[in-house]
Amino acid sequence: MQKLIIQGGMPIYGEVRISGAKNAALPILCASLLTADMLTIENVPYLNDVITMLNLLGQMGVGIETEKERMTLTAAHLNHLIAPYEMVKTMRAAILVLGPMLARAGAAKVSLPGGCAIGLRPVDQHIKGLQAMGAEIEIEHGYIHAKARRLSGAHIVMDIVTVTGTENLMMAATLADGTTIIENAAREPEISDLANCLIAMGAKIHGVGSDIITIEGVETLHGATYRVMPDRIETGTFLIAAAASGGEIYLKETRPDTLDAVLDKLMEAGAAIESGPDWIRLKMKHAPKSVNLRTAPYPAFPTDMQAQFMVLNSVATGTAIITETIFENRFMHVQELKRMNADIKVEGNAAIVCGVAALDGAAVMATDLRASASLVLAGLIARGETVIDRIYHLDRGYEFIEQKLSMLGARIRRAT
Ligand code: EPU
Repeated sequence: MQKLIIQGGMPIYGEVRISGAKNAALPILCASLLTADMLTIENVPYLNDVITMLNLLGQMGVGIETEKERMTLTAAHLNHLIAPYEMVKTMRAAILVLGPMLARAGAAKVSLPGGCAIGLRPVDQHIKGLQAMGAEIEIEHGYIHAKARRLSGAHIVMDIVTVTGTENLMMAATLADGTTIIENAAREPEISDLANCLIAMGAKIHGVGSDIITIEGVETLHGATYRVMPDRIETGTFLIAAAASGGEIYLKETRPDTLDAVLDKLMEAGAAIESGPDWIRLKMKHAPKSVNLRTAPYPAFPTDMQAQFMVLNSVATGTAIITETIFENRFMHVQELKRMNADIKVEGNAAIVCGVAALDGAAVMATDLRASASLVLAGLIARGETVIDRIYHLDRGYEFIEQKLSMLGARIRRAT
């Protein structure tokens, strides 16, 4: 199993390009199922989750051509309408084939994802929404069996705000008979990116970026060329690398407008930030100050940045309370950070972080994607060597992470 070995203590300095967003690329790849025409997608990051999704779509009969970050997908003939357990268990986002497959082919068999490291993560809202659109759904032997001659437009009020739930229903509704209204929709920028791709394919969607999305179903969608938005979580992770190490960073090809809550918290912690439409510069002159934060659906502070911000608070002046409201078990990095001398107590869904003078390098274990990112950040600022095991989690969501960090002055290498 591969490990990352980091010699800490070097401030992060320099310029880096932000990759395409994983959580936008995955649903957009699934949107290819909605048309028989060619969908060309640009700025697709090279990540294990993307490879898993391409394998799944390929198995279903989608023709795929890749040329670096540009991919062309053609779902002219769908012949295998199944997302098997082996794939869904490694990547929950595989549930995103359910809506488009059902809408286009009238049937789908998708494994239930089951729980995962960060929480139970049920998919009841996906199922309930599709049923409201007329799908017949049965759960048998761990699989969702869905059928519908043609989905019909429906008025759906989501019980909770769900990102992939909103995406699944929005994709399904593009080919439904009539108008669908999704209320209490999630507003994450990746949902708007998917909506804009669907619009480029001929879908009629209103209210993009709001919590009420209206979709007028059409008979067919057509091909398009679409460029995936930059990854706001990768952006935030690099900003914290510079902030926690007392460095300076310039991020290009990013979108500052998609991470206002994170930028506000970084400024509260003492970072000097400048930005333009597609760039951000961060400079940290003094030791960071502790900052309280609470995760919540967009536009509030993202759960996907909670673990990384905890590292900044671990070496900040003062005490901070971090409250996690999205997932019930997303503090698994705490035990590992404590092994590196962090002073953190977990009480229910809150972590109380008392800043310490320095973290110490240690052997630690990655437990999920964003927890892994937090351990990398901790390793960058720790005294001595940190060895991070199980980094396959990191490779699911960060493109060329050690190359990018090395260019910024980090001493980081991969070992088998
Ligand atoms: N939930 C339900 N029922 C549902 C759907 C969700 O109870 O039918 C609950 C979940 O258990 C959770 C909450 O609702 O407590 C929010 O979950 P959501 O459905 O929004 O999460 P997701 O769509 O499965 C996406 C991202 C995650 C990110 C969350 C929250 C993708 C592919 N994944 O997951 O990204 O943390 O939204 O913003 O878009 C990551 O990239 O590391 C990652 C985990």
